[in-house]
Amino acid sequence: MCGIIGYVGKRNAVPVLLYGLQRLEYRGYDSAGIAVIEKTDRKIIVEKQVGKIKDLQEHLWNKKIEGHTALGHTRWATHGAPTIENAHPHTSQKGTISIVHNGIIENYLELKKELLDKGYRFKSETDTEVIAHLFEDLYTGDLLETAFKVAKKLRGAYAVGVISTYEPDRIIGIKKGSPLIVGLGKDENFIASDIPAVLEYTKDFIALDDGEIALVKTDSVEIFNINGKKIEKKPFHVTWDVSVAEKAGYKHFMQKEIHEQPRTIGDTITGFSSSKDDQLFCMLKDVDRLYIIACGTSYHAGLIGKFWIERFAKIPVEVDYASEYRYRDRIINENSVVMGISQSGETADTRFALLDAKKEGAKTISLVNVVGSSLSRETDYVLYTYCGPEIGVAATKTFTAQLVSLLLFALEAGVKKGTISFRDYEYIYNQLIHIPSKVEDILGKDDQVKEIAHRYMNASDFLFLGRNINYPIALEGALKLKEISYIHAEGYPAGEMKHGPIALIDEKMPVVCVAPKDRFYEKIFSNIQEVKARKGKVLSVATEGDSQIKQISDEVIYISQTIDPLYPILTVIPLQMLSYHIATLLGKDVDQPRNLAKTVTVE
Ligand code: G6P
Repeated sequence: MCGIIGYVGKRNAVPVLLYGLQRLEYRGYDSAGIAVIEKTDRKIIVEKQVGKIKDLQEHLWNKKIEGHTALGHTRWATHGAPTIENAHPHTSQKGTISIVHNGIIENYLELKKELLDKGYRFKSETDTEVIAHLFEDLYTGDLLETAFKVAKKLRGAYAVGVISTYEPDRIIGIKKGSPLIVGLGKDENFIASDIPAVLEYTKDFIALDDGEIALVKTDSVEIFNINGKKIEKKPFHVTWDVSVAEKAGYKHFMQKEIHEQPRTIGDTITGFSSSKDDQLFCMLKDVDRLYIIACGTSYHAGLIGKFWIERFAKIPVEVDYASEYRYRDRIINENSVVMGISQSGETADTRFALLDAKKEGAKTISLVNVVGSSLSRETDYVLYTYCGPEIGVAATKTFTAQLVSLLLFALEAGVKKGTISFRDYEYIYNQLIHIPSKVEDILGKDDQVKEIAHRYMNASDFLFLGRNINYPIALEGALKLKEISYIHAEGYPAGEMKHGPIALIDEKMPVVCVAPKDRFYEKIFSNIQEVKARKGKVLSVATEGDSQIKQISDEVIYISQTIDPLYPILTVIPLQMLSYHIATLLGKDVDQPRNLAKTVTVE
């Protein structure tokens, strides 16, 4: 994880770095730092602080640092505790080369030993510091040439930014495994882990591929492969407005992102329909099995996608955690298709599992939110969600957009295969386009959800139940609550409760029941009665007009009526709101929950 940024250009780099680091903070917030080649004496000044970017900002207050070439870093600790010594940037012994790094150098102990033997002294416990010393050790008089040599010695996944007093007019960016983009400005250029970091300054980017090295100066950008061969890369333009990376009056990004869903669902319906890839759907005609792999919230979207794809396209689907799929004895042939779902398109587990499957002959599809992300470039076909940047660490708007994309994917494949009629397709589609206004109605119940949150915020455990297509929503509701409120929560298929979790139920246990009026309503209704009979506190998410459920529930949050397959897109919304309110009432940092990071680029 970690976020890195680099600036070279005509303005003072310090405010640019601080702005960018704030937007990268979702990638890690254990410590932060900057390294600036000072304008007057051309020395590298390094300033670091444990904690968040605002702590670094306070620390820099009144320090008059000015320079035009600089690097910044926000850390999610892997090797070594979050201390000043372990914070990036790391600087070579002579103080002439500074680097920032996102990723893990797997052979750092071996490299460290070599460097120690040569007399280099280490100040930190990080794997990163070896890169700074290696640059100094191998410096040829040309920073770019040195980068080729250094990159050949490093094993693992990394995105690295390098500056040096020897050649103060440039930044070197190296990418292998972790994301790195180059932002193209006028009289200035940038490197960064992600687009929002520099969106204030440019909308034109080059995405580096693994094994590529960028030489970035004020008025030029050149890309090379690790052997020094120059590569021509086509820049891409993003249409995101800078305001999408701001809170826009909301207290937290997560709250803003929950409330953006009517728009992001609508945009994803339109985006999917206007960018259909006919080749992809023709290819699906011959597929005998589809594997979906993902992590976290994206995995839950995959579980729901399975219901739709099997129902409408009649393709058998297996859903796996990417970290498990990668190391199991999977059976792949030329008719296998593997789909990776990932908001960031950078999650290491998902990427590497997909790359392995591709090597074994599978056709690959990615469903991503971040344009130009690694996954989108590494797969044969790409589907997008159209959400703009998601900054809150807990995914919300990208989850519902993933659901919309998966549903449309299943319907489109079904029509192409002839497993559903065009009339059925149109019927579902016409219901889908009313979902944004139904989401809007649920968001209007914010005060009610907050009151409920107030009543249950002190519970120490929650159980979430759902059946069939709403079972993954129970999993997602439990995950959201755990992530941001640190309350223990479990998601379970309601029918399975009697085989274990029922033993946990007593008068202190809130049980959130996802019970819309679909074809499983009566079944889950019975399960809720089983909870009530054991004095559990029942919080139901139910369909407007269902008065029966009121009698057996302590709380009911109503959602509008829709057709069976579309309910998960609605039922998840009250659960996102509930977690948000419980966590904020408990005073938790919902945008940056402890120990988590939004983009997990380590295995
Ligand atoms: C991290 C985030 C989750 C996210 C998961 C997968 O754990 O905290 O919110 O769901 O990664 O991320 P991806 O970008 O692959 O969807």
